[in-house]
This record gives sequence, structure tokens and C-alpha cells, in this order.
Amino acid sequence: MSQRTSVSPDMETIKNLQVVTFPHPQGCRSFLLNDPLTGQTLALDVHLDLVDSVAEEVRSQGWSLPYVVDSHTHADHPSGAGALAKLFSSTRIAHEKANHIGVTRHPADGDVLHLGDVPVTVYHSPGHTPDHIVLVASGALFGGDTLLIGGVARTDFLGGDAGQLFDSVHRLLSLLPDETVLYPSHDYKGQTKSSLGAERKSNPWLSIEDRAEFVRSLTANPPPRPANMDDLLRLNREGVDIPRAVTAAEAVERVRQGGATSVLDVRTDVEFQSEYIDGSVQIPLDQLVARADEARAVPAPRLLLCRSGSRAEMALESLAKMGLAGLSVVGDGLEGYKRAGGETESSGEHVSLERQVRILAGALVVLGTGLGYGVHPAFFALAGFIGLGQIVAGVTDWCGMGLALARMPWNQGSAASSGSSPAGTCAANAPAACAANPPDVGTCAAQPPPA
Ligand SMILES: [Fe+2]
Repeated sequence: MSQRTSVSPDMETIKNLQVVTFPHPQGCRSFLLNDPLTGQTLALDVHLDLVDSVAEEVRSQGWSLPYVVDSHTHADHPSGAGALAKLFSSTRIAHEKANHIGVTRHPADGDVLHLGDVPVTVYHSPGHTPDHIVLVASGALFGGDTLLIGGVARTDFLGGDAGQLFDSVHRLLSLLPDETVLYPSHDYKGQTKSSLGAERKSNPWLSIEDRAEFVRSLTANPPPRPANMDDLLRLNREGVDIPRAVTAAEAVERVRQGGATSVLDVRTDVEFQSEYIDGSVQIPLDQLVARADEARAVPAPRLLLCRSGSRAEMALESLAKMGLAGLSVVGDGLEGYKRAGGETESSGEHVSLERQVRILAGALVVLGTGLGYGVHPAFFALAGFIGLGQIVAGVTDWCGMGLALARMPWNQGSAASSGSSPAGTCAANAPAACAANPPDVGTCAAQPPPA
């Protein structure tokens, strides 16, 4: 059983529907919609990292899970729909334009699903993507990435269409009353719900009444593409497994295609500051449990990196126990990455840990030899002990002296990621992909309209 962490669900009841919201540090929201009378439940937009948490909630409540739904093809995170549906033999649902392998039910606009006696109406709401659907049940709108809290979805990839988004948003506003509770599938400020009335009053995009102006504003300043988008689309459409390991050459290619923000470097501070992949995020191996949400905020699929690969393997085991998925170890670590042609940066401010080990080991051998000749022959043992330690380090790739040196005060740093990347400034609290945007905008949201 997975070790539970700070991803804690939030449950509330809207009329005759129980809603459980699972927040993810990447800004994603996953949901369970439950009919308390029958226990029949629908899962919506489940992030792959949250499959264990969602499954545990369903089991612990004694519910059944007949439906697993993706509101659209996600381009910013791996979907857990396939994995979750497999656990509960659920029917996977998405719009027919999604064309996802494993999806067997494609509702048309206006179709109704039933959770016991609770009807869940599906509306086609293209705009963010052509395959987008939203769910309406018991006075709540589960809007996916159509209407966000204080924002709207971006429309600049995957066949998105700003004009269609305008039509979809205004159609929902005309169909549903102001008191309708809005649950979007993304929020980058930690909010989970709003209402259509509140959005009508304060959402700057809804104050734009002219469709052409809306389209102009929405398409004028698109945010950067999500990291790993091509890989994510393949995963989410074809349902392939994320490999446990990738070759150094594959890692180099991923980084060249803009995936550096998905590299989670688990080396020590001093190693990282000596040499790093620009844009990568660093959390030392021994801090992963305490900083699990920072690790979750690294866009998946994530590449785990250390010097040679062994610590990254340990990191994978540790993170998997915390429910994180979408993890691959970079084979042969940073050394292999460089051999495969990958570029690295250096802060130039630190003597590398490897050089520190060489200097200290050499100094201790000289000291032991000198004291052995000048004071007492027993000091020769010091030189022998250091030599033996270096042999063990070389054979096992575990260096106690290096680990001890890494804890020295001069080797302590606070960097969480490489400083030259904008992702570094917000890696602790927000997805790396949002770093280049205003703080309230993430990978699925549009930039705010001009004032
Ligand atoms: Fe999206």
C-alpha cells in the first residue's frame, strides 16, 4: 500500500451528489462524483500520480466505480484513467474526437450518464481542444479546462479554437443558473470551486462580449508549450506505459525538446551547483519525503537523475511509495548524459564534491604516512584505511567520505533548481511550466486579457 502523503482529498455534498476533490501541486484537479444512496461513483480527470489516492478513497468508502472520464486529451500531465479503470473494471469515457485507446463509450452532446438516480449530463464544449466535454450534475458544473476560476483555457495547441471556446462558455452560461457550482479541472492558485454567478461578475474573460475581440485577446499572447507535450499526448492517447528507465541518449533528446523542467536531480546541493542541466529541478535524495509536493510539481513524465544512476533508482522507489507515477531513471546518470552529448552548466562557485574527496583523501594519506614515520607506525593504518575506502567507493559507487563532505556547511545550498531557468524560481510551489507566465496562469490557462 502506498505511503499516504499531503495530497488529501476534500469532500462535500452538493444537493444529492458527493464530490471529492483531489488537488495536485501541478495545478490539476481530479474528482470523484458519488451517489451516496447507491455508492455508484464517477472519476473525472484523474492525474496518474493520484490513481492510488483515488482508488483508496473508492475502496475505503465501499463505493463502486462504473465510470472513469477524461474531459479532454490532457497535454500537461499523464492521465490515470487507464490505470484506474483497470483496477475497478470501469467503463472509460471520452468524446469520440479524443480517439483514446481503451475508451469504449463516447457520449454525444446532451447524453446522460446515471449514478444511481443522479443524472450526469454531458455537454460537448470544444475550444480548449476539439474533444472537450463537461459534466453537469446536481447543480454543479465540472468544467474541465473550459471555464477556469478567473480565467479560461488556452486554445493555442491540439486544434484549440478561441471562437469555439467563446461559444462553449457562453452556451454554458445561458444553460445554467448563476448558483451553479463550478469545479474546474485546473487552478494554479490553490482554489477548487467557484460559481457561475461569481465568474460572471469577476472573470475578466466574461466581460468581453464581442466574440472577435475575445478571439483576438486570447490568441495574442499564448503561454509556452507544456513540457513534454509530445510524450504526454502519446501516453494519453495510446496508453503506453512510462518506462522505468531511459537511456542517456533519450534523456538528451527529451531535454533538447524542451523537457529540462521535467528532470528531477536527486544529487546533493554541492554536486548540483558544480554541474547541472539548465532548467532541471534539484531535491536531494534524503529530502524527497519531506519535499514530496515539490517533486509532484515537476511535470511528468519525470526523469530522475543522479551522478551514475544508483541514487536515482533509490529515488524512484521512494517516490513510488508516495504515490508518484511517471518516473524514469536516466541510465548512467549525469555522466552518461554528458557522454551522450548532453549539455550542462556550472555555477563555477564550488569545488566539485569529487575533487573535494580527492583532496581530502590525498591529504589524509599524506598525513597518515608522515605521522607513521615521525610519530608512531600505527598511523600508517590511517593511510591504509583511506586507500581501502577508495577501493570500496570505486567498486560499490557508494562513497561515505563524499556523503560526509556533502553535509559540511560550505557545501550547503538552497538552490531547488538551476538558477538560469525561470522554472527555478517557482519549482517549490508551482509547476515549472508556469514559471514563464504570470503567477496565476498555468499550462492549461490562457494569459489574462488586456486590461
Ligand atoms: Fe487541458
